[in-house]
Amino acid sequence: METHRILVVDDEVKMRRVLEMSLRNMGYEVSQAADGAEAMACFDEAPFDLVMTDLNMPRMDGMQLLRALRERGEGVPVIVLTAFGSIETAVEAMKLGAADYIIRPFEMDTVELAVTRALAMGTMQRENRFLRDEVERGWGEFIGGSAKMRALYDLIRQVAPARSSVLIAGETGTGKELVARAIHQASGRDGLFVPINCAAIPADLLESELFGHQKGAFTGAHRDRMGKFELSSGGTIFLDEITEMPLTLQAKLLRVLQEGAVERLGAQRVVKVDLRIVAATNRDPQQAVDEGAMRQDLFFRLNVVRIDVPPLRERREDIVLLAEHFLRKYSTELGRPVPDLSEAVTQSLLVYAWPGNVRELENLMERAAVLCRGKSVEPQSLPVDMTATAAVPSAAPVADASGAFDSLVLDEHVAALERRLIAAALERSGDNKSAASRLLGVSERTLWYKLKKYRL
Ligand SMILES: Nc1ncnc2c1ncn2[C@@H]1O[C@H](COP(=O)(O)OP(=O)(O)OP(=O)(O)O)[C@@H](O)[C@H]1O
Ligand SMILES: [Mg+2]
Repeated sequence: METHRILVVDDEVKMRRVLEMSLRNMGYEVSQAADGAEAMACFDEAPFDLVMTDLNMPRMDGMQLLRALRERGEGVPVIVLTAFGSIETAVEAMKLGAADYIIRPFEMDTVELAVTRALAMGTMQRENRFLRDEVERGWGEFIGGSAKMRALYDLIRQVAPARSSVLIAGETGTGKELVARAIHQASGRDGLFVPINCAAIPADLLESELFGHQKGAFTGAHRDRMGKFELSSGGTIFLDEITEMPLTLQAKLLRVLQEGAVERLGAQRVVKVDLRIVAATNRDPQQAVDEGAMRQDLFFRLNVVRIDVPPLRERREDIVLLAEHFLRKYSTELGRPVPDLSEAVTQSLLVYAWPGNVRELENLMERAAVLCRGKSVEPQSLPVDMTATAAVPSAAPVADASGAFDSLVLDEHVAALERRLIAAALERSGDNKSAASRLLGVSERTLWYKLKKYRL
């Protein structure tokens, strides 16, 4: 367990010594300061878990210290020591946010109790702040405070320190690579994070990419080359799109996992490696096994720890947070003021199905940041097929935070969908009505009727 650091602030040397010794005996790490100003200087060096301060001191007194700490945003609990008979000052201090007060002369038992309580309170407040941040914003590089995302953060923190392989599954653009990086970061492993996309590298090159080769192992192998497995030793290798890895190579991967060693192509020597494998796929892993794209034994081995990244439509309460984040990011990059999201745009974002998940939302907000001319993003900055619903608010059913719809009236939803599809068809056909009607699979007459109905 970590030792708590306590700062004792008092102008009387004897008093400081007594407190310091007693607190040391209780197992705390103690520093001293003679007044508030000195105490603030100590905080510049390193933070403390608790401050015990006298109230009457020259230069900066206890109350001023309390104020100065709060102004600096130091949430550290403060216990004030006050003389018998000056209770009012203690009450004042409590109003300013002191955690507790102790009246002199005191018994050490009183001090021990107050310190234990204040430290416990401090920890709790820190945890609360941490949880609140996570709900309101996200964790690390992740934006999103939905229950599903918070469960994901918990799972990442839980599995990161272990050596076990991890299989990340989730639709395209949900953030699988972000999860893989977060696992590496939270793992405490000090080697490299080495990503490799199994779908992007031709099958015959993939093996030498992973294993490395010795000079002359094959034509074109002009020199020795270290593979990604060796490179990631002590770190994490991220095998993206694992189901696209040829089956023969999957068998070799399994052997590497079991033996903790690799052999460069053309070499006789086996090298020990300290591997941590994180794999990802945007397919359903079990289905990939059934269809023969992934070896069953490898699947079992990787699936020990499985992380499913939820699609965006299952965590709609994160949409606006993400949209604002990306809008801020891209506007800032462009050196422009950050616009708001108009009500109509927010509604469109909330009802949209997001097949491309967070990546699609990111691209959309980049586009909006570029196109935006005014103070807020208006529907014109979104692709037409997304805003069709927003133009007729009554026909735009809005999902609430849990993804459930306020209204279940079927006609409203069907109308909204029809409107969106028609707008998309018009966009794609360049406003050619007969082409659009063919795309929609309806007669031109039906299309004209619907255009009038939806005032398109
Ligand atoms: N929760 C999130 N908060 C902030 N940014 C996110 C979040 N999820 C994803 N992103 C961003 O969205 C983009 C897509 O994420 P990522 O590349 O991790 O998705 P993926 O699941 O690996 O997609 P694919 O299956 O297509 O490879 C990245 O730019 C990533 O930074
Ligand atoms: Mg990816």
